[in-house]
Amino acid sequence: MRIAHLSDLHFGRDRPDLTTALVAALRTRGPDLIVLSGDLTQRARPAEFAAAADFIAQLSAPVLAVPGNHDLPGWRPLLRFLDPWGRWRAGLGRALEPEYVGSGYIAVGINTARRWGPHPDWSRGRVNRAQLARIERLVTAADPAALRLLVAHHPFLLSTELRRRGLVGRARRTLVGLRRARIDLILGGHLHRGYAGVAEGVVVAQAGTAISTRHKGEPNAFNWIEADSQEIVVAPCRWDGDGFTAAGCWRFGRGESGWGALGTGR
Ligand SMILES: [Fe+2]
Ligand SMILES: [Fe+2]
Repeated sequence: MRIAHLSDLHFGRDRPDLTTALVAALRTRGPDLIVLSGDLTQRARPAEFAAAADFIAQLSAPVLAVPGNHDLPGWRPLLRFLDPWGRWRAGLGRALEPEYVGSGYIAVGINTARRWGPHPDWSRGRVNRAQLARIERLVTAADPAALRLLVAHHPFLLSTELRRRGLVGRARRTLVGLRRARIDLILGGHLHRGYAGVAEGVVVAQAGTAISTRHKGEPNAFNWIEADSQEIVVAPCRWDGDGFTAAGCWRFGRGESGWGALGTGR
């Protein structure tokens, strides 16, 4: 299967020229599934959700989108606490925790953003037991040969450079459950940096910001992922000022005890 993995679009801080180029690139490539791994908006404003909905309407493949911390109303405390996801629902008309069954795969989305936390940084995310139970239930009911994808905004794996950043809350316990559920691939964002690796025998692909000006030391990019039962290849496609072009790849193979890295390629 071929997946276009887009993250952190941040409509409100987007570059319209990149949006146009991205829509064209996706039409040319023709993925089986387009994943949006959270932070569709900058400040969860209705106009930003409308722009995100307009973008999604231009895509010519099934779309699975999950929210990120920026999709919560940050500066409207009453709204944040009383109706945190009202704007997402009204603006996009999409589920917070979608699932999609395609030919040879099942993709499950979870909402890791929280309206508050018992710590000063409310941008951090978390996975709870009910979310893990839902994932297990859905993938267990799926075709045993299907590739099993999980989409979550907050990261389950940090690169060496980002080791001081936090993982999603309850990452380690959740990963044990995800491995038990034989999840193959986790798609995430939040850090605006693209990398891929293996955590607990599961491949984790993180995408940079596709079209926003909120750069964290990397050009705009999305991940192009090709996967079958034996191999997963994650290729970042970076904006080079003219178009989105492939810039190397990470390759992973299925082994006896889960997935392992096969190395990088061009
Ligand atoms: Fe973001
Ligand atoms: Fe985020």
